Amino acid sequence: MSSSSRACFLVVFLTCLVSCHATSDFLGSNYRIDVHSHAIPNIWTQAMISEGFPVKNGTVYNDGAPVPEWSLESHISAMDGLASLPPGVSFIKEAKKAKTLARHINLLLHEYTQIYPARLGALCLLPLPFVNEAVEELNFCLETLKFVGVGLYTNAQGIYLGDSALEPVFAALNARNASVFVHPASPTCTSVALGHPIPMTEYPFDTVRAMENLLLTGQRARYPDLKIIFSHGGGAIPYLASRIAGVASLSYAGGVAFTETMAQLAGYYFDLASATSVIQLTALKSFVGAEHLVTGIDYPYVPLTQAEPGLAGIQGNGNFTNEEMGLIKYQNALEIFPRISDALKF
Ligand SMILES: *[C@@H]1O[C@H](CO)[C@@H](O)[C@H](O)[C@H]1NC(C)=O
Ligand SMILES: *[C@@H]1O[C@H](CO)[C@@H](O)[C@H](O)[C@H]1NC(C)=O
Ligand SMILES: *[C@@H]1O[C@H](CO)[C@@H](O)[C@H](O)[C@H]1NC(C)=O
Repeated sequence: MSSSSRACFLVVFLTCLVSCHATSDFLGSNYRIDVHSHAIPNIWTQAMISEGFPVKNGTVYNDGAPVPEWSLESHISAMDGLASLPPGVSFIKEAKKAKTLARHINLLLHEYTQIYPARLGALCLLPLPFVNEAVEELNFCLETLKFVGVGLYTNAQGIYLGDSALEPVFAALNARNASVFVHPASPTCTSVALGHPIPMTEYPFDTVRAMENLLLTGQRARYPDLKIIFSHGGGAIPYLASRIAGVASLSYAGGVAFTETMAQLAGYYFDLASATSVIQLTALKSFVGAEHLVTGIDYPYVPLTQAEPGLAGIQGNGNFTNEEMGLIKYQNALEIFPRISDALKF
């Protein structure tokens, strides 16, 4: 961002935290906590290349899209602070190897947050779909590294949130009262995209699939107190919720009461990365209200030339009051991740 209009951000790795250096400025109108930006350490792109991901002209491609250049310094200077999302490791097919890579990345994220304690928060990267290893890593991140929360993907090698295989992970999250950020992933049936970039529409649809599975298997209902953020305005969920609730209420689909489904889906939080248009914000405002919306940038995948006008348009496009903007910019994020408040000492 240009220095004159620079917003103050706290970035959380795999989501989350931005802060200004001057405390007096901290709650100023430019202060934001970004819950959705990405750390892309070299160790991760190197692992992808070893696993056979395509490399074109020196750039590795994931899900049909180029993985951007990233450095901690460019991250911090881009938004004067951002939260970062740890990259997923579900492309590693062997448990021990996935655990080792996740541990390396978590230690790196921890190092970044030590360098910029008031600017960066970290979300734990879990070596899913390996459940025992994931629970171990979750405990290490939250207890030893004091991460602000945990990052999950909508699916890992086709194991979706909601799958009973993930019950130990949800039990562990619940036992620790951990807040969760859910990033979309590619479905395993990639042929549906005819070779076009998977993130464009398959990511939002996968977000819907994960919420739907959490509903239909009862996993969300078993852990109703976990605070969970879904990305990109919830994918298509504000638009599809009433259709899902209608079908879910039929006996053959489980017979969940319509109002119960609507309440469950509207009980999630949604970040506004690539969800800042009038149509999206009108739907989100009507579905969950400003109380359940948080700021997200998706740096560096979404270029700042797109992210900045998006951020600037939120208030007008959503017709939000200044009070509501306070919730969206940072207050809701502080509520979801109490350890951010601790890190900022207020
Ligand atoms: C390949 O990369 C170089 C440097 O990163 C760039 O200048 C060039 O335009 C790229 N070529 C293609 C075909 O993308
Ligand atoms: C869980 O965290 C919330 C804040 O996110 C807090 O209000 C609540 O008291 C916590 N519950 C337990 C059991 O720690
Ligand atoms: C914007 O919101 C205010 C209430 O804060 C309301 O009075 C006004 O009608 C809304 N404008 C539009 C265009 O929706």
